[in-house]
Amino acid sequence: MTEAGAMSNADRDAAEFEGVPWRNVNLNDQPEARRVPTMLAGDEQRFYTWITQDWAEGTGAVVDLGAFAGGSTARLAAGAKAAGKPLAIHAYDKFTAKAETKQTELYDKGVPEFDGADILPLARDFLSPWADQITYHKGNIEELGWDGGPIEILAIDVFKKVDLIDPITRAFFPSLVPGRSLLVQQDFLHWSQPWICAQMELFGDVFEPVAFARRDSIAYLLRKPITEAVLKRAQVASLTDDDMQGAIASARVRFGDWGIQNRLDALSQGLAANPGARVSWQMKPPEA
Ligand SMILES: C[S@@+](CC[C@H](N)C(=O)[O-])C[C@H]1O[C@@H](n2cnc3c(N)ncnc32)[C@H](O)[C@@H]1O
Repeated sequence: MTEAGAMSNADRDAAEFEGVPWRNVNLNDQPEARRVPTMLAGDEQRFYTWITQDWAEGTGAVVDLGAFAGGSTARLAAGAKAAGKPLAIHAYDKFTAKAETKQTELYDKGVPEFDGADILPLARDFLSPWADQITYHKGNIEELGWDGGPIEILAIDVFKKVDLIDPITRAFFPSLVPGRSLLVQQDFLHWSQPWICAQMELFGDVFEPVAFARRDSIAYLLRKPITEAVLKRAQVASLTDDDMQGAIASARVRFGDWGIQNRLDALSQGLAANPGARVSWQMKPPEA
């Protein structure tokens, strides 16, 4: 919002992300969000809070793909609430967790033990402070899809398998608005998901990278419409390892002075150490 509370028609500017303004977010100011376990790093949590609190104008929905127990959704919702913005937040997940994940991501983080794999009741409980703003979508995201309304913020934490990327991209990206929408690729710099970097390089100047939130997130502003031709060009399902290595090389140029060259090297090394791999949790670390 502008000072007068009215929205400007101007395209959003990459300069709004300069100086990493989200570092000013104090996570201790959000105790209700802090109690929700999350796999996000501290800087990512601050970024998720900042984009709803300070950056969003309410021009579309906020969509969280891969909410797990609600950690990322809580940071998005808390930022919106702190700023008094009635943003519509959509939390997507299978909302199920295997025993091992329950142990490491929930019990080990202080959540009392519970029966069964369904974590939707847990997520609803954690997210109850923002219940009026959140819509839940339980199931396989690639099957659930989106209603087609404009999306202002799309945060993705589910591109861990290549075969999910093209259908989810086709379902959600056309609802991003050129000049107005932010895409957060949460796992962009994780060594085990080099296909995200490949996808974003195939999009080329359709997206402009604007932020790096440690550990792994890169955020982009959409600059050009997501047409059918653009969707076809950015498909990743049939990319070879060499195609992906080429894309990582091109990202090295695009992100020349961003201080992430070693992370791009790790993407390349992760791919080289796992020829033909297309599922992140089946990959072995490059140094192993
Ligand atoms: C890394 S976790 C998300 C962490 C979460 N953003 C946080 O802040 O803690 C990835 C999530 O994606 C979900 N997921 C993976 N593939 C999915 C799919 N095809 N449809 C729905 N959810 C999926 C998993 O259930 C898991 O909860």
